[in-house]
Amino acid sequence: MHGSNLFSRYLRMLFSFFKKQTVTPDLSFLGVDMHSHLLPGIDDGLKTVEQTVAFVKELHALGYKKLICTPHILNGVHNNTVATINAALDIARKALADAQVPVVLEAAAEYMIDDEFENKINEKEELLTFGKNNILVEMSYLAESNNLLEVIFRLQMAGYHPILAHPERYNFYHGNFDKYEELKDRQVLFQLNILSLSGYYGKEIKKVSERLLAKGMYDFIGTDMHHETHLAATKAFVATKEFYNLVKNTNLHNQSLL
Ligand SMILES: [Fe+2]
Repeated sequence: MHGSNLFSRYLRMLFSFFKKQTVTPDLSFLGVDMHSHLLPGIDDGLKTVEQTVAFVKELHALGYKKLICTPHILNGVHNNTVATINAALDIARKALADAQVPVVLEAAAEYMIDDEFENKINEKEELLTFGKNNILVEMSYLAESNNLLEVIFRLQMAGYHPILAHPERYNFYHGNFDKYEELKDRQVLFQLNILSLSGYYGKEIKKVSERLLAKGMYDFIGTDMHHETHLAATKAFVATKEFYNLVKNTNLHNQSLL
């Protein structure tokens, strides 16, 4: 009895040692981050262009070659348009060129799925995409969007490939894994937040993200970078063996966006 207790304690120690083992961060196997709030002053992400330059340098040092910024478009809260986003992108690109940071900076958006978004689709307004007509969409953390399936269908009919941002963060799906399966059956692409795997958003979200990842249901992984705390937590997590053990040899195809 005593011996087996000692043995299981030994195993636990060994396990936590391997989990916490640090490595030199190297995200070059991903190459591209496709979800971030790095553009200055237009949503709840970075505030100044100086911050943008500093964060882009840090992300470049981690191994990223291309960063696709995705400011929120959320009616009444973040009233961004193609014009406000492109203007902020121009400012950021000029500052990065002056600072000689060798990273490709692009912009799309993170669209909240709501009535306003549905109107944009119906009116055939220009939507911001990346790669081959990919469009990043999100929902409230409180409830599923009423018009979710209709919006997905309309986007697909119009030739877009909807990518659902951080599906693991929608707590209202946690008890109903079939919802994830249904969305995948409808060809919705899934994007994982790096910090979900670290436990940053809580144990439950970590557990769900690991399950979706193990089932090969994620297509892309992103930083969803908003501020200093995210940067510090991301840098710490991508310096652990645990991150690479979880993420390497999965279906993630960020590289296809290079
Ligand atoms: Fe985001």
